[in-house]
Amino acid sequence: MEFLCSMKLLLTLLLSLLSLSLVPHLAFATGPCHFPAIFNFGDSNSDTGGLSAAFGQAPPPNGESYFHGPAGRYSDGRLVIDFIAKSLGLPYLSAYLDALGSNFTHGANFATAGSTIRPQNTTLHQSGFSPFSLNVQFYQFNDFQRRSHLIRKQGSVYEGLLPEAEVFSRALYTFDIGQNDLTAGYFLNMTTDQVRAYVPDVLDQFKTVVKSIYEHGGRSFWIHNTGPVGCLPYVMDLLPVTAAQVDKVGCATPFNEVAKYFNLRLKETVVQLRKDLSSAALTYVDVYAVKYDLISQAKKHGFVHPLQACCGHGGKYNYNKHLGCGSKIKVNGEEIMVGKSCKDPSVVINWDGVHYTQAANKWVFDQIVNGAYSDPPIPLHMACHTQ
Ligand SMILES: *[C@@H]1O[C@H](CO)[C@@H](O)[C@H](O)[C@H]1NC(C)=O
Ligand SMILES: *[C@@H]1O[C@H](CO)[C@@H](O)[C@H](O)[C@H]1NC(C)=O
Ligand SMILES: *[C@@H]1O[C@H](CO)[C@@H](O)[C@H](O)[C@H]1NC(C)=O
Repeated sequence: MEFLCSMKLLLTLLLSLLSLSLVPHLAFATGPCHFPAIFNFGDSNSDTGGLSAAFGQAPPPNGESYFHGPAGRYSDGRLVIDFIAKSLGLPYLSAYLDALGSNFTHGANFATAGSTIRPQNTTLHQSGFSPFSLNVQFYQFNDFQRRSHLIRKQGSVYEGLLPEAEVFSRALYTFDIGQNDLTAGYFLNMTTDQVRAYVPDVLDQFKTVVKSIYEHGGRSFWIHNTGPVGCLPYVMDLLPVTAAQVDKVGCATPFNEVAKYFNLRLKETVVQLRKDLSSAALTYVDVYAVKYDLISQAKKHGFVHPLQACCGHGGKYNYNKHLGCGSKIKVNGEEIMVGKSCKDPSVVINWDGVHYTQAANKWVFDQIVNGAYSDPPIPLHMACHTQ
């Protein structure tokens, strides 16, 4: 009797312990998410054909390492978003803007190269920034969702190219955007203090878009922070800094400091969004740390010349704004294409002065996929679970 009593007590104790401490963790222990689709928002880091569809194809040798020709990506091959899709068992994402050959049953990509979170007050021609800023990408998503419903309801030949209604709430919403918002200010000759001062406004606009997607049914959000922009050849070439502002790796400190400040505020924004959107699973991914580790310890990771572009022409960083990767120049009346100057892009980090090679993208993906750089630290395929 006494034994039974103490057993009962023990059980009650155990149960209350379970409900107190273990239950929150049990959320992690539930199964993989089986995301049926990805909807991606971003800039060139994740553009799989948007800018190419709207403003002309990224020229060869882009795409040559994997697609054997231009494939709408600013890289020799695949991007982090491609490796994300692949690892979730989904096809590579079609760009929303790509009218030909697209199949959106497993998602759509709204990212375009040169996109910013805030709409810029300059044209693509003037400044190189895309008109498809994050708010526009949301308008496109909104229309995509609305018309997918309509078209599937009506039943037509396009039905088989669009996602089912229930896909929108179960999909993974991915973001990699913000880098161009930072460089935009510098290219307008703003000081670092001036750039820092507008970061909160940039993040307010980011927050608005995430909330709008939530209102449209989105629940799982995978948010990359911004990379070490001060280590990119085009930034170091176009925005030279003093010797005292160069770190031991060779990167420009002021731009990396601003990127870190942006990331700090982005992380705070994600924490706030968790409070505001009670059913959302928001994962913040520290891509900055991964990319900086890759660049600063390139040799250890099997890469060479971390600060030099593979496809470019001349100068300290093999980068020249006027002789970009794939552009054509006339030498003695003969047309020459600016192509690859590195022997083996599979051991090079930077592709064209602005973007990463497929090998670097794969390396970054391999570091982030298991959650080691995520807050909360859950793997990609579990990113639907709230804490
Ligand atoms: C564009 O101009 C508007 C109106 O002056 C201003 O409110 C907005 O902040 C500007 N956008 C950027 C990115 O500078
Ligand atoms: C679109 O892709 C899905 C998944 O890969 C496939 O099942 C479907 O048949 C495709 N639609 C068309 C019209 O080819
Ligand atoms: C920034 O400053 C440079 C050098 O003074 C000048 O050539 C350029 O026109 C300026 N750019 C803008 C957008 O004001």
